[in-house]
Amino acid sequence: MDLSLIVPTFNEGPNVRELLRRLAQTLDGTAYEVIFVDDSTDDTPDIIRAAAAESDAPVRLIHRTEAAGGLGGAVVAGVQAASADWCVVMDGDLQHPPEVIPQLLARAARGDVDVVVASRYISGGTSKGLAGAVRTAVSRLSTLLTKAMFPRKLHGCSDPMTGFFLLHRPAIDLDTLRPRGFKILLEILARRQLRLAEVPFDFAERHAGASKASFTQGVRFLAQLTMLRFGRMSAFAVVGGVGAVANLAIMWALIALGMEYVWAAIIASEVTIISNFLLLEYLVFADMRADSGLMRHRFLKSFTFNNLEAVIRIPVLWVIVEATHIPSVVAAALTLVAAFVVRFVFHALIVYAP
Ligand code: GDD
Ligand code: MN
Repeated sequence: MDLSLIVPTFNEGPNVRELLRRLAQTLDGTAYEVIFVDDSTDDTPDIIRAAAAESDAPVRLIHRTEAAGGLGGAVVAGVQAASADWCVVMDGDLQHPPEVIPQLLARAARGDVDVVVASRYISGGTSKGLAGAVRTAVSRLSTLLTKAMFPRKLHGCSDPMTGFFLLHRPAIDLDTLRPRGFKILLEILARRQLRLAEVPFDFAERHAGASKASFTQGVRFLAQLTMLRFGRMSAFAVVGGVGAVANLAIMWALIALGMEYVWAAIIASEVTIISNFLLLEYLVFADMRADSGLMRHRFLKSFTFNNLEAVIRIPVLWVIVEATHIPSVVAAALTLVAAFVVRFVFHALIVYAP
């Protein structure tokens, strides 16, 4: 067996035959098996069994009654059961065109990677199958945030949320994976530094049926992200909190010495911007300094960004309060949280860029 195809399915009956047909067409000459890992509540397993009987390539069905770990758990179960060392993970709704698989294999054949990611977000790829502007925006923003949280492990990966990839099983440690929800590739890439390459693809429309993505999946994704990366971001938050307290203390002291409050606020902000940068250098991003150029360049970027942020946040606060009439303290808290996220993304991706 050269290749195992892992296809998680949840009520995908109408897509099974078309998927097998297109696989057979495009993988002619490759010794492959298809493993459906199914958590369906409808007749999908019967459809898979019937299609398997007619298929030239071996088709296996793992029907799970307890859908442990959801989509991610299904993928892990499939990889565990695979007969080949190289596994393609793909959706069963034909949003992942089988015709891309030979390109994934060709890239892996060069022998220098553990994972080949089919990406919507490198040139040549598209995400037009993502229904709606909101879902597209959410996908883009969560990709940025995820990359900021794992700048090194996801370096060179433009689409850590994709569900379409080729994996060399010996390179991963299945036991360390804690699959939760949809983002199984992220889980794999975040656990261990893997060598990866990308191939672009067109994220197509669904062949039939409806997406199982949901708000709950989104929340699960955030939980997964927090668990995977509790370290750096919480450290960043602590530094930010210490800075805020120091800022107020310095301001209070200067006013007590007789200084005009505006000047006191400006000096306090500048002092904390500089001391925060030093804390980030030596505590939060210490492991990334060696690979991200000169300290004074990082300082200039960080300093400019924090000053711009301070200048922009106040008018934004004013607009929010005037437009919505929510209490100004609540609005201020919202702008601070938003500023925190933006600041973290900026530092992890730009100031400390390798
Ligand atoms: N076994 C199993 N168990 N399969 C599931 C489950 C589950 O709980 N939930 C969904 N699936 C299967 C679906 O049947 C489909 O084959 C595949 O997983 C993807 O599910 P969709 O419902 O089609 O999700 P999507 O198209 O919105 O999301 C896809 O694209 C995202 C990128 O925007 C997935 O590939 C995501 O992983 C990916 O992040
Ligand atoms: Mn889909």
